[in-house]
Amino acid sequence: MDLGWGNQKASKFVTNVGLITSDGPNGPNIMAAEWTFYLSYSPAIISVHIGGSENGKATAENIMKTKEFGVSLAASDQNAISSIAGGSSGREVDKIAILKEMGFELYKGKKTGVLLVKGAATNAECHLLEAKQVGDHVMLIGEVMEIDSDASKEPLIYQFGKYYKLGEQIYKPAPDVLEKIAALKVKYTKKK
Ligand SMILES: Cc1cc2nc3c(=O)[nH]c(=O)nc-3n(C[C@H](O)[C@H](O)[C@H](O)COP(=O)(O)O)c2cc1C
Repeated sequence: MDLGWGNQKASKFVTNVGLITSDGPNGPNIMAAEWTFYLSYSPAIISVHIGGSENGKATAENIMKTKEFGVSLAASDQNAISSIAGGSSGREVDKIAILKEMGFELYKGKKTGVLLVKGAATNAECHLLEAKQVGDHVMLIGEVMEIDSDASKEPLIYQFGKYYKLGEQIYKPAPDVLEKIAALKVKYTKKK
């Protein structure tokens, strides 16, 4: 099946905005990647999914060369950084220079030296373990070498081309519903 970009049928996925930093043949660079996922706790592993092939986007080419990348999860007040990082290619535009000129700050990671975005909700430094072509994206799987999360920041939310803030908390079901679920689990426990 071919859904194509922007298909309404795939519009209900809700994501973070990963700001993926890298260095390499295209120089220091940053891209926005909503397809940034936490894959494993132990060891801690993050995947980033980049359209095209290993040599497609500037970020993928950089990471394939250096085996290192930064993942800054954009905070809810960093939509402009996301739009800069996602709005052009590091092959043609020095997006890091744009960010600096607009007053955004980046700093060097402790373990890898990749740039990380100041004020992001989470900042992680990753070492590339594996690259795997999955359909029309290349999945870059990275082990987390260092990570920091800012308790005072909320992540920027992305859904079908729009930015959001985290909303009202939905609490777990009421006690009577949880009791019913527990009773049904006993009733439907599979016999060995
Ligand atoms: C909010 C947002 C999320 C994006 N998510 C992705 C993504 O998950 N994967 C991807 O390949 N491109 C994604 N893009 C598009 C890239 O950021 C864009 O193609 C960018 O120009 C690539 O930069 P580069 O060539 O410097 O690596 C996203 C763009 C925006 C604005």
